[in-house]
Amino acid sequence: MQFTRADFPEGFNFGVATSSYQIEGHSFGGAGRTQWDDFAATPGNVKNAETGAIAADHYHRYEADMDLVAQGNFDCYRFSTSWARVMPDGFTVNPDGLDFYDRLTDAMLARGIKPCATLYHWELPVPILDRGGWRNRDIADWFADYTHTIMARIGDRMHSVAPINEPWCVAWLSHFMGAHAPGLRDIRATARAMHHVLLAHGKAIHTMRGLGMDNLGAVFNFEWADPADHTPEAAEKAALYDAIYNRWFLGGVFKGEYPANVLDGLGVHMPDKWQDDFPTITAPVDWCGLNYYTRKLIGPDGGAWPGLKEVEGPLEKTLMGWEIYPEGLYNFLTRTAREYTGTLPLTVTENGLASPDVIENGRIDDPQRSSYIAAHLASVRRAISEGVPVNGYYLWSLMDNYEWAFGYEQRFGLVHVDFDTLERTPKASYHQMAQNLRR
Ligand code: FCB
Repeated sequence: MQFTRADFPEGFNFGVATSSYQIEGHSFGGAGRTQWDDFAATPGNVKNAETGAIAADHYHRYEADMDLVAQGNFDCYRFSTSWARVMPDGFTVNPDGLDFYDRLTDAMLARGIKPCATLYHWELPVPILDRGGWRNRDIADWFADYTHTIMARIGDRMHSVAPINEPWCVAWLSHFMGAHAPGLRDIRATARAMHHVLLAHGKAIHTMRGLGMDNLGAVFNFEWADPADHTPEAAEKAALYDAIYNRWFLGGVFKGEYPANVLDGLGVHMPDKWQDDFPTITAPVDWCGLNYYTRKLIGPDGGAWPGLKEVEGPLEKTLMGWEIYPEGLYNFLTRTAREYTGTLPLTVTENGLASPDVIENGRIDDPQRSSYIAAHLASVRRAISEGVPVNGYYLWSLMDNYEWAFGYEQRFGLVHVDFDTLERTPKASYHQMAQNLRR
């Protein structure tokens, strides 16, 4: 993996990303119970029933962790603020929570790191879930109140902010597939979550504009969908997967419309007068973030709508079983600019892989990660050379962390974490990035 900053446009930002529940330790500092604590307590949901109670203990070790960002020569640190830490019951402020994000912000600035915040990376306080969570339209206003509370404190020092990480995961993965908290498999709940998550995004943007903030964006996760075979049925299902996963959210935020083939299934379950919310949902943003990892091969599966299934593909895979497909990142960068965002800056806000990293003689070799990064950066450069305004690339993740339903087994970090001792050890890929990014 060899490149220099000169291979990218002037001002291009390199960063590393994390999220609150995955690293901080939610048993510390007065944080409230989140939906992930409950989800993990139900057998079968999370590997070894693990939670983020301690995670990587970033709550106490954030200064040393910011040293790792700085020594890696990264420009940006993308982190999330936890609603459950700032407002443990969803409504009442926890001063220690605000203080923590204040200290963390200053720790970044002291090292010349640009703070890039996400307001929600799935840290839903359970009292909000008790009120219906993302099914309840009122969540958009509650989320806007939380947005105001945290950004009134740290918003003056943020480089960039996005309200919600990966609306597809918040809505579809968590309410239709049941794979993430709150673990529902309910099409009606899904339709509401698919809409309310974007309404909350729009209200949060509006709230932050009211605070005088700029450089506000939206962060989506995208999966490229290819038909599993050459039949028209497979092509139709791949297009439907693409619409559910990718186009629903881009269409909502940038065009004020949802794809017709998704409304075929969700329309009857949508909340009343959903069309009236588009003026809020389409609140102008300053950039669009893309989280990209893999592609899927999709075929028909009979049964109820959407009647599709994933088929195993032939490409090299990561430890997660995800195919490595750098072309997908190029495809999304070019397509998003062409069809949705025009000249708006695009940022790759997450990209990376899990590998079975072990320490040997004090070293951790992770060659698959290095070649994955090199291949995806080549896709970014190809898109830039064709005029796509990409302004940054952030790796997931700074360090190994709580990988949701997979617990602590899947290691996505550039820095290894021993979850017994909590010791951090930079992997070979981290050293290579630091070398490539030196000024
Ligand atoms: C993304 C999530 C992040 C992490 C990576 C592997 O979808 O935003 O928290 O789980 O995948």
